[in-house]
Amino acid sequence: MSYRVFSGIQPTGQITLGNYLGALRQFVALQQDADAFYCVVDLHAITVAQDPSLLRERIVDLATLYLAVGLNPQKSTLFVQSDVSAHSELGWILQCMVHMGELSRMTQFKEKAEGKDTVTAGLFTYPALMAADILLYQTSRVPVGDDQKQHLELTRDIALRFNSRFGETFAVPEVMMLKEGARIMSLDDPAKKMSKSNPNPQSRIEILDSPDDIRKKISRAVTDSDREIRFAPQTKPAVSNLLVIYSLTADVTIDSLVAQYEGKGYGAFKKDLADVIVAHLTPIQEKHREIRGSGLTEDVLRQGAATAAQEAEETMALVRERVGLGGFRRR
Ligand code: AMP
Ligand code: TRP
Repeated sequence: MSYRVFSGIQPTGQITLGNYLGALRQFVALQQDADAFYCVVDLHAITVAQDPSLLRERIVDLATLYLAVGLNPQKSTLFVQSDVSAHSELGWILQCMVHMGELSRMTQFKEKAEGKDTVTAGLFTYPALMAADILLYQTSRVPVGDDQKQHLELTRDIALRFNSRFGETFAVPEVMMLKEGARIMSLDDPAKKMSKSNPNPQSRIEILDSPDDIRKKISRAVTDSDREIRFAPQTKPAVSNLLVIYSLTADVTIDSLVAQYEGKGYGAFKKDLADVIVAHLTPIQEKHREIRGSGLTEDVLRQGAATAAQEAEETMALVRERVGLGGFRRR
């Protein structure tokens, strides 16, 4: 039986190897069995200031990458969040179901607000919009990286609260996370997650980085004090992170890598790791170049928006009726 999957990525920068290994690659694997909806969440992006023309460019770029990594529009629905107004509509309704205290506990909000003079109300209520994204599609599974776990738990709580107050309306979604790779760390600091918004570009590999840049970044990646290649996330976080990246990219086990590099230095290990990443990303980059400017992405997004809007409207009709809202407009 097919099950519903939903996930989204913000168009706020170049997609990193962390996004890819932690989330995007799962999207592709899931489309075989699942009825999947993958969204470019531009309404989430504007919780912090964005340049309008750059935002539009990044939306198309991210959707093009969805196609380049292997998402098939015949199997999955690919669309842009703001093209389906039900996201904003349900987002508002769910803001009226979630508590200030719950939102205040969100670590992503605390991290993004830290050190800022002002933050938008949207940044604070962001998890209600994310819950709307997921619940609109009666989603049963949400593939994400580890940093989204808390948001997913809140989504579940909101769904359960709504269902118990108004009657069964939403499917209660489950989070899907990798055992290793749900949190790829920065190359310059293994205590921080690899992030597209880190000011230091050396901290991350971007999916569209040139082979030369990838080799440089990997060769400069920090390592731990001894020379041993071992998997020990607590005591050797930097090398362990590189092992996870290697293992996922090359599809080999960490144990076999540890055996393969026993007695060899970091130099050989890093050189091979860079080669493996380059080999994995080159075909994706070629596909991305091929699709860009062909008009395919725009066509896929137009079709995706129509499919998503129709699906979302079914849930919205039920939500309006349950909550006691409006209902006079013919749709
Ligand atoms: P974002 O870049 O915040 O829109 O994240 C998009 C997806 O990538 C989400 O599912 C995140 O959990 C996931 N993700 C982001 N950074 C990482 C990382 N360093 N390691 C693993 N997954 C990540
Ligand atoms: N909050 C997620 C992030 O920062 C992006 C996101 C928005 C999302 N809506 C979603 C992820 C719905 C999964 C499902 O990465």
